[in-house]
Amino acid sequence: MNGALRLTVLGAGYLGITHAACMASLGFGVLGVDTDGSKVGKLNAGRLPIYEPGLAELLRAGLGAGRLRFTTSYAEAAAFGDVHFICTGTPQQAGSDRADTSQVDACVATLAPLLRRPCLVVGKSTVPVGTARRLAAGLGHACPGAELAWNPEFLREGTAVADTLSPDRIVAGVTSGRAEAILRQVYARPVAGGTPFIVTSLETAELSKAAANAFLATKISFINAMAEVCEVAGGDVRALARILGADPRIGPSFLRAGLGFGGGCLPKDIRAFAARASELGAGQALAFLREVDAINLRRRVRTADLALELAGGSLAEVPVCALGAAFKPGSDDVRDSPALDVAQILTGMGARVTIHDPAALRGARRARPELAYARTLAGAARGAHVVLLLTEWPAFAALTPGDLSPLVARRNIIDARGALDPVPWQQHGWRYRALGMAEDAAAAMRAATG
Ligand code: UDX
Repeated sequence: MNGALRLTVLGAGYLGITHAACMASLGFGVLGVDTDGSKVGKLNAGRLPIYEPGLAELLRAGLGAGRLRFTTSYAEAAAFGDVHFICTGTPQQAGSDRADTSQVDACVATLAPLLRRPCLVVGKSTVPVGTARRLAAGLGHACPGAELAWNPEFLREGTAVADTLSPDRIVAGVTSGRAEAILRQVYARPVAGGTPFIVTSLETAELSKAAANAFLATKISFINAMAEVCEVAGGDVRALARILGADPRIGPSFLRAGLGFGGGCLPKDIRAFAARASELGAGQALAFLREVDAINLRRRVRTADLALELAGGSLAEVPVCALGAAFKPGSDDVRDSPALDVAQILTGMGARVTIHDPAALRGARRARPELAYARTLAGAARGAHVVLLLTEWPAFAALTPGDLSPLVARRNIIDARGALDPVPWQQHGWRYRALGMAEDAAAAMRAATG
């Protein structure tokens, strides 16, 4: 056991499962809590409801060592934990840009009256600034020995385990030295490994997550804005990104132009951040995030327009192959997926779209049952007039004209993630179009290569 600290993790979504399994792997006794009994049953049986490399192994190791268990009982959690981590979701509110914090609120409201001994309640969910201060007041009222801290999580899907065990930074939003000392004990291992531990206020901790995601989204939309200019000016955004990224003040990461960002975090987090700033009277400061969002969504429409162009001006009954459904490779998450949105837009334009994805077909079918899917790449590509690469899975990025030419009816490809080399495709008689590159610029690349 790691010290005597016992941890609970409230909410068995992406964040909660990852945090619970990782903390158990560090030697803590961990109790995961979720109100969904069937999910709890699956997790206790070692079955992971999400796709995340390395996580199933950690889950099973924790269960096998007796350090990790899941329950639906908040009473059990209250009796068990010295530290309670809030990991529930904060989705976008229906009909509004604001975050829906009802799950976080319910979590604290359920736990607080059950607490009988001193403990630390630690928020990890992404919440509007001010939430922690509000929750702290209610918690202190219900249980004087309980204290609240905020410790945002910056993990990425696909690398969630490594991001949790060796984070870039640990943010401790606290109101006392005692809370800081407990968080230092929880994170002793990564801190000993060199991870910066930054102590700050509750508000700055909450803001740090919103600001980080806003910056990342802005960086992606910046390069996608440059892509729009490249398309009309005859530039090549991939070369432009390489040039910009070579400047250490800018850096190369998050400068991949293409279909833009999706997923369960960046889109809803920038909207919630702008909405919260407006509520606080600082709406103007974050007005640019509306433009960041608009640039991002425009890429989806542009991709569909390219397909229309390659189909010769009408998509009615045109067979189209869509490669990708996940919001990014290495994930089965289809929340706000740019790929699925493009498939939906094309379907609305009359195309007969067939989607293939190596991991996300089940989730995609559930989210958009009206779309057509194929279990194999060949099944999606056979007879297609236009192929679109929408999620840059390694297997798609490695495709060659030799793989697809025998399958399709017409040789048209849209590389919406800038994952392919245009030259071989053009040499094999394909019309190749990419975001951020005018058609004649792609042709010039071929000429330059001979
Ligand atoms: C993000 C943040 O990175 C993470 O710190 C936070 O905790 C949660 O939100 P995630 O949603 O898992 O993580 O994905 P990320 O790798 O950030 O990618 C987000 C989206 O941006 C994906 O759709 C991806 O395809 C897109 N993207 C990313 C680009 O379009 N271009 C890039 O250069 C980078």
